[in-house]
Amino acid sequence: MRVMITGATGLIGSRLVERLHHEGHTILVLTRQPEKATQQFDRHRFPRVEIMGYTPVEPGMWQETIPQWDGVVNLAGEAIAAGRWTEAIKQELRRSREVGTRTLVEGINQAIPCPSVLVNASAIGYYGTSETATFDETSPPGSDFLATLCQAWEAEATLVKTRLVILRFGIALDATGGALGKMILPFQLFSGGPLGHGQQWVSWIHIDDLVNLILHALTDPSMEGTFNATAPNPVRMQTFCQTIGQVIHRPSWLPVPAFALNLLLGEGASVVLEGQQVLPKRTLASGFTYHYPTLPQALTQILK
Ligand SMILES: NC(=O)c1ccc[n+]([C@@H]2O[C@H](COP(=O)([O-])OP(=O)(O)OC[C@H]3O[C@@H](n4cnc5c(N)ncnc54)[C@H](OP(=O)(O)O)[C@@H]3O)[C@@H](O)[C@H]2O)c1
Repeated sequence: MRVMITGATGLIGSRLVERLHHEGHTILVLTRQPEKATQQFDRHRFPRVEIMGYTPVEPGMWQETIPQWDGVVNLAGEAIAAGRWTEAIKQELRRSREVGTRTLVEGINQAIPCPSVLVNASAIGYYGTSETATFDETSPPGSDFLATLCQAWEAEATLVKTRLVILRFGIALDATGGALGKMILPFQLFSGGPLGHGQQWVSWIHIDDLVNLILHALTDPSMEGTFNATAPNPVRMQTFCQTIGQVIHRPSWLPVPAFALNLLLGEGASVVLEGQQVLPKRTLASGFTYHYPTLPQALTQILK
C-alpha cells in the first residue's frame, strides 16, 4: 500500500510508520517540521518513507499529492497532556484537529483518484468521564471540553467521501512515551502510586495492538464507521498502578494527590484524574484479535 500519514512523527505515528515500512509499504509523512522528520526517518533506515512539509490548517500544494496514495491516516493534533490548558492551548487543541481534519478531508474529496480509506484518530474522551458507567461505540457523547472536541473532530471526518474508519483511542501504552512513559519514572525511584483517589477508570491499549488495529482498518474493506481502540479489559487507576509495581518489582504506595496535578495541569488534569470504562464491542465483533488483552500481559511485554 501507499499510505499518507499526518502526525506521523508522534508516539503512535512513529510506531505506525516503522510497522508499515517493515511490511514493505510506502509512506508519505506529512509534517510541520520536515527537517526533524528527515532525521527521525532517515533515508538509510527508511528508504520507502517520503517526507513533505505542510501547514495542517491551510490548503496547499500538499493536497495535490493526495491522489497518489491508497490510504490516509490522520493522527495530527496539538498534544493533549503536554501542559496546563490555557485558553490559547484549548483553542489550538481544537483548531488543530477540527480545521486540520477539515482541510485534509477537502483535499481527499477533491482528489482524482480518491484514496480508498481515511483512518481518523479520535479519543475515548468522546464519552465524557464516569466512575460507574460503561461505554461502547453506541454510547452517546459527553459534554465536557474533550467530549465536545472529539465530536467536532469526528464531525469533520464524517464529511469524507471515501471509506471512513474513526478509531477512538484509549491510553496508548508504550514505555518510551505517552502516559506510561511519564508514570514509570517515579516507580523506578520507589515513589510511584495512583494518581488521585485511584477509583477512576483507565481504558488502555498496548501500542502494538493499536498499530495492528490501524492496519486492520486500512486493509479490511468491511471496517467502516466508529471503533473503540481500547483493550477489552480496562482497570481502575489503583489496579493500573499496582500492576506496574508488580511487573517492575517496586512498591506502589505513594498516591499523587489530585490537588498537585490540578496545580500542575489545571483543567488538563481531568485526563488522568477522571476516566471512563470503555469496551471495544464493535472492534471485537469485527474479528480483530488483541495480542495483549489484559494489563499484566501488556505491561510485562513493555516494561521487561
Ligand atoms: N497517545 C494516546 O494515548 C492517545 C489517546 C487518545 C487519543 N490520541 C490522539 O491520537 C493522535 C496521535 O496521538 P500521539 O500520542 O501519537 O500524539 P503526539 O505524540 O502528540 O503526536 C501528534 C503529532 O501531531 C502533530 N502536531 C502537534 N501539534 C500540532 C498542531 N498544533 N497542529 C497540527 N499538528 C500538530 C505533530 O506532528 P508534526 O510535528 O510532524 O506535524 C505530532 O507529532 C493525537 O491526535 C492524540 O490526541 C492519543
